[in-house]
Amino acid sequence: MDSILVTGNGPLNGQIPIAGAKNACLTLMPATLLSEEPLTLTNAPRLSDIKTMTALLQSLGAEVSALQDGQVIAMSSHDLTSQTADYDIVRKMRASNLVLGPLLARFGQAVVSLPGGCAIGARPMDLHVEGLEALGAEIELKDGYLHAKAPGGLKGAVHEMRFASVGATENIVMAATLAKGTTVLKNAAREPEIVDLVECLRKMGAQISGEGTSTIEIQGVDCLHGATHQVVTDRIELGTYMLAPAICGGEVELLGGRMSLVSSFVEKLEAAGVSVSETEKGLKVARKNGRVRAVDVVTEPFPGFPTDLQAQMMALMCTAEGTSVLEERIFENRFMHAPELTRMGAQIEVHGGTATVTGVEQLKGAPVMATDLRASVSLILAGLAAEGETTVSRVYHLDRGYEHVVRKLEGVGAKIERIKGE
Ligand code: EPZ
Repeated sequence: MDSILVTGNGPLNGQIPIAGAKNACLTLMPATLLSEEPLTLTNAPRLSDIKTMTALLQSLGAEVSALQDGQVIAMSSHDLTSQTADYDIVRKMRASNLVLGPLLARFGQAVVSLPGGCAIGARPMDLHVEGLEALGAEIELKDGYLHAKAPGGLKGAVHEMRFASVGATENIVMAATLAKGTTVLKNAAREPEIVDLVECLRKMGAQISGEGTSTIEIQGVDCLHGATHQVVTDRIELGTYMLAPAICGGEVELLGGRMSLVSSFVEKLEAAGVSVSETEKGLKVARKNGRVRAVDVVTEPFPGFPTDLQAQMMALMCTAEGTSVLEERIFENRFMHAPELTRMGAQIEVHGGTATVTGVEQLKGAPVMATDLRASVSLILAGLAAEGETTVSRVYHLDRGYEHVVRKLEGVGAKIERIKGE
């Protein structure tokens, strides 16, 4: 297994290009199942999760080709041969469950493995099931698989979700595009990735309004046609790299960044003493004078502070002046980066869903282990600011969600290299 060696090397300066959003691409790809005409995505990120979704769609009989070094994904679901998403693929990536709604809508049946838990939590699918059952689906759990059917087709309905689940919103919206009649989804998730999905579905002929608000209305249509869609910028990669000059000092321009994608995160950065400004190419982030100030963070559904930036923000708070309290309200076990940061001299106390961080003057490099996707990059950020060398092991987690990390950080002056493992 490869590892990444980071050596603290002072302030960072330059530009970092931000890729298309992993979490948008992972819901846009299953949308191809809704139509027998081709769907093409541009600005796609080159990530192992995208490869996993590709393999899943191909296992269903879809044609999926990665063109232009993976930045374009050309798909066709004209001749599907299966409606079963096997456990061996779904267990690797929870987002595989996003084929459930489209398969049910187009074919009236689907068999999708439950993803099982993952490092950050149990991650059940009850909200997906409740929403699809509201549209008339009959779903039963057998041998770890959800067996879903809608023999007479799905029917529009008014449904309020108990929690604004991102994935459940995506599954229900995709299913509703081909249901008979109108669906009103209340307490819908508002993430930019859902707005991007709806914009793509609209290009395919879907009739949807309200995306980005808590109420999304979908008028079912008989069929959807093909389209070409550009994947929205990845706000989590954006926020992650905004923290690099924040934790090291210096000034970095994030190409393709937009303030609207990260507004609550920017509020916290500015409160900590980091300056963020819009340029015509993206966002410029600078920290000139000394340590940042400690700020408190509570993770919430969009537009609140993103849970996917909590681990990275904790790394910054480990170097801040003062004490910060980070409350993780979305997942039940998303502080696994804390003991690894502690090995670097951080002072962190975790009690249930709350971590209290007392900033230290200087973190010290150490060998640490990545436990999940966002924890891996949190450790790299800490290593950039630490004195001496930090080796982050198990970087396969990193490859799921960040393309060319070494190249992007080297480009702004970081001392970082990937060490080939056995
Ligand atoms: C999406 O996961 C993202 N993944 C996650 O990003 C992100 O952390 C999460 O949304 C929250 O923003 C993709 O988009 C592929 P949820 P998702 O359904 O859809 C509970 C990353 O690092 N829940 O909003 O699975 C669930 O257990 C990943 O890129 C139920 O209880 O998130 C969790 O505690 C990590 N029942 C909370 O809701 C359900 O049926 C949020 O889950 C569904 C979810």
